[in-house]
Amino acid sequence: MQVLGIETSCDETGIAIYDSEAGLVAHNLYSQIALHEQYGGVVPELASRDHVRRILPLIKKTVAEANTELKSLGAIAYTAGPGLMGALLVGSATGRSLAYALSIPAIGVHHMEAHLLAPMLEKEVPEYPFLALLVSGGHTLLVHVSGPGKYKILGESVDDAAGEAFDKTAKLLGLPYPGGPVLSALAEKGDSKRFHFPRPMTDRPGLDFSFSGLKTFALNTVKAAPEDEQTRADIARAFVDAVVDTFIIKCRRAIKETGLKRLIVAGGVSANKQLRAGLIRLMDEANGKAYFPRAEFCTDNGAMIAYAGYLRIVSGQTESLNFQAKPRWPLESI
Ligand code: KG4
Ligand code: ZN
Repeated sequence: MQVLGIETSCDETGIAIYDSEAGLVAHNLYSQIALHEQYGGVVPELASRDHVRRILPLIKKTVAEANTELKSLGAIAYTAGPGLMGALLVGSATGRSLAYALSIPAIGVHHMEAHLLAPMLEKEVPEYPFLALLVSGGHTLLVHVSGPGKYKILGESVDDAAGEAFDKTAKLLGLPYPGGPVLSALAEKGDSKRFHFPRPMTDRPGLDFSFSGLKTFALNTVKAAPEDEQTRADIARAFVDAVVDTFIIKCRRAIKETGLKRLIVAGGVSANKQLRAGLIRLMDEANGKAYFPRAEFCTDNGAMIAYAGYLRIVSGQTESLNFQAKPRWPLESI
């Protein structure tokens, strides 16, 4: 069976086709970075309108690249939430209508479940159960995964998501949107000994996170420090070191509490080199293993939606003809 995946939850139009026998056969992404750059962040209305412009040409291109045709598709998966309402509506309405026209099932996929499953598109996949650290622009979740669709949230951010903290800190360092990748590249040139940032909520029990204080700490550090390129790199380095250390401390704690030896890390921030290196080291020390998506599937993409939809379809899940768009949608409720 071939499943078409449609991702439009934020600022990327992602389309892919997952084939139950051949695996991922085609995927395309249109990023709206250039559109939102001048505003320093995503403008929801512009995002929705651009999804409308891109979605059909991208579906046609992906179907052609997969050497297939619309009438050969077995199902359509679309991101139903969480995300920006207008952006979700574009993908949901397109996916549902196309499925109706083709008389095939459509399934609304949870965006964070799709991120969690993205490492399953790689050669080496973990067995269940495992821990999942999901780090995106909108969410930071530590999840106990006992099987497909069986999720128990062990910890989450009480304020900003990790990606949001990267983006906000990048902005106050004068870096362009989206700040995460630019900030981490700058951090590589920084001196780790010059500034020291706190490791939030690591001095108390539990697995929750808090990242909004780091952004304030960065602001105060920027105000008190000289304005030169090396200083900005040193501040970026101190920020990244603090985020990475915090994740290492919390994941070490989660491994100890659950006895699990496999850790999946996914979502936009899982592209971060320092974070990947730190968590690989942690899992080596614990005689376990860390699993990541390939770099292009860390951030939003259609491949993870097609795959997550495929798993839900083969598990027998169906939905009514109403399309779904849920800007807020807890992972545990699916
Ligand atoms: O998963 P994603 O593409 O979208 C959401 O579901 O939110 O994540 C986007 C987030 C942004 O905040 C972006 O700055 C961050 O992931 N990000 C990174 C890196 N690449 C993307 N943060 C740190 N280092 C990176 N290399
Ligand atoms: Zn995402």
